[in-house]
Amino acid sequence: MDVKYITNKNNISRSQIKEYLKKTDNDFYPKLSSRVDITEYAGKIYEKAVLIVAVIKKYGYIGLTAFYANDFNSRKSYLSNINVMKTFSGLGIANTMMGIMENYLIDNGFKEIYLEVYNKNYRALSLYEKYDFKIEEDIGNFFKMKKIIQR
Ligand SMILES: CC(C)(COP(=O)(O)OP(=O)(O)OC[C@H]1O[C@@H](n2cnc3c(N)ncnc32)[C@H](O)[C@@H]1OP(=O)(O)O)[C@@H](O)C(=O)NCCC(=O)NCCS
Repeated sequence: MDVKYITNKNNISRSQIKEYLKKTDNDFYPKLSSRVDITEYAGKIYEKAVLIVAVIKKYGYIGLTAFYANDFNSRKSYLSNINVMKTFSGLGIANTMMGIMENYLIDNGFKEIYLEVYNKNYRALSLYEKYDFKIEEDIGNFFKMKKIIQR
């Protein structure tokens, strides 16, 4: 399967991000729309985040990763969103996007990355633990996790 990974925003628009997030809303645990306004969120990540998009030519967008890497004083970054369409899960697409993100953070001198994840989202927890994220804080139903970027 020929999956392309795009990090250049010229290849995706704000409204395409919104459509993709709406299409995959139910795959999030809990639903993304229960936590954010999808239109606003799509605009925010389009403006402020680094995006990695996985695409299959005949199918369109099948995966998205959005992380903030704007704070060049603290060199702390934040993983806001990673998801892969259900039909294409378990094929290593999240693995590849995590690798691309890590290389970007290393190349740009980032030292730490944080995220928050629902404490019963076992697939995501397993993914994050595999990439050495450690639970830093238990916030109600969510874990705050942190990873030190090793160069
Ligand atoms: C979590 C998610 C991104 C994984 O994507 P994926 O492309 O299927 O993952 P990969 O095939 O690259 O697998 C990477 C790792 O994820 C974890 N994982 C993936 N599928 C899993 C499953 N069914 N059960 C347990 N762990 C799983 C494993 O740690 C796996 O490592 P391995 O390859 O050594 O087994 C995907 O399930 C998803 O989009 N979930 C819904 C959105 C979401 O909740 N995102 C996180 C919060 S923003």
